[in-house]
Amino acid sequence: MTVTSTTPSTATGPSTPARGEPRIRLARYDAGEEEVEAIRSVITSGFLTNGPKTAEFERVFAQRHQVDHAVAFANGTVALQALYLAAGIGPGDEVIVPSMTFISTATSVLHVGATPVFADVDAETYNLSPAAVEACVTSRTKAIVPVHYGGQPADMDELRMVAASCGALVFEDAAEAHGASYRGRPVGGLGDAAMFSFTPTKNITTGEGGMITTGSAELAATMRLLRSHGQTALYEHAILGYNWRITELQAAMGVVQVGRLDAILARKRANAERMEVLLAAVPGISRPVVRADREHVYMLYTCLVDDGIERDAVLGAMLDRGVEARLYFPPAHRQPVFLVDGRPPAELPVTDDLARRMLSVPFHSLLSNTELVDIVDTLREALAAAGA
Ligand SMILES: Cc1ncc(COP(=O)(O)O)c(C=O)c1O
Repeated sequence: MTVTSTTPSTATGPSTPARGEPRIRLARYDAGEEEVEAIRSVITSGFLTNGPKTAEFERVFAQRHQVDHAVAFANGTVALQALYLAAGIGPGDEVIVPSMTFISTATSVLHVGATPVFADVDAETYNLSPAAVEACVTSRTKAIVPVHYGGQPADMDELRMVAASCGALVFEDAAEAHGASYRGRPVGGLGDAAMFSFTPTKNITTGEGGMITTGSAELAATMRLLRSHGQTALYEHAILGYNWRITELQAAMGVVQVGRLDAILARKRANAERMEVLLAAVPGISRPVVRADREHVYMLYTCLVDDGIERDAVLGAMLDRGVEARLYFPPAHRQPVFLVDGRPPAELPVTDDLARRMLSVPFHSLLSNTELVDIVDTLREALAAAGA
């Protein structure tokens, strides 16, 4: 089924807040009758896992991102693990990652016994700084994993040059960037492989779900084995594998969601233009910086409060006024799981400064113009209450 409408689906994620819940929530997904119908037909088809919908989801996703292979997984975190395992990354190897990301960009490296090495990010885009990555390279570096933060592609050409100079692979963490593009090319095919996630905050969702895209038939074949118990034929297990499969129900939803992606991104782009104008008049805050050679898909809309303004006070004041906002993300290198003798494993001054000042406002694809104005008015009041 192809969904091409530019208007949102009719039955979407809950829109009426429960009592005590924010009036405008950070995230809402766009899914409706088409997804319900797709899931209904899976239930009556006789295939709930390992079936034709998984193959179709992989096919349409690969087409949309102009890559040869896509392999679907139960979630993005195990998809990353499968990718590292398929690439032969393990104990003794190092993988360079940003700290300004969701935790599993880094914990997935630990899951395969390798060591995540945290590099600092660019102060404007929050994406890995190629110079900082270069400074982290050692003889053990096996991969560099740029996160396309919030939906804006990282500096891929420069990062690939660093990788080429040390023989490392480049894996995009495109969990937040479905449909984004860099210098005219879609994410997903900008490195050796890429990971996407489909949790409900993402621009398209299957509830839980992940996808690896790659141009390598060999990597894709190994990941398919890892995904399903290393099984080459019924009850024949060639390698140590896992059960990391996505269900047919999720895959069927995924097929419909891929069909919605461009309409969702068009609404987000239009809303980003409106936000740019609305926020220009708000003191105490900087708007997101988008590089001219790439297309941002705004899974997140992340601003920076000016130095001297207490960001957490602004977040609190927004929530008090019924608009949810959040820090995406508390830096990974400061999480207890990564501390060494109680201390972070790396000095990341830009990441630390950003973590003090970042603030992401609601920016899902169903926001109306009135809600955008409401978000900006609320932010202005919250900033004023915090002394801006
Ligand atoms: C940047 C990033 N990496 C990795 C993940 C992990 O994906 P998942 O939650 O599907 O395991 C997410 C999203 O949750 C993410 O935003």
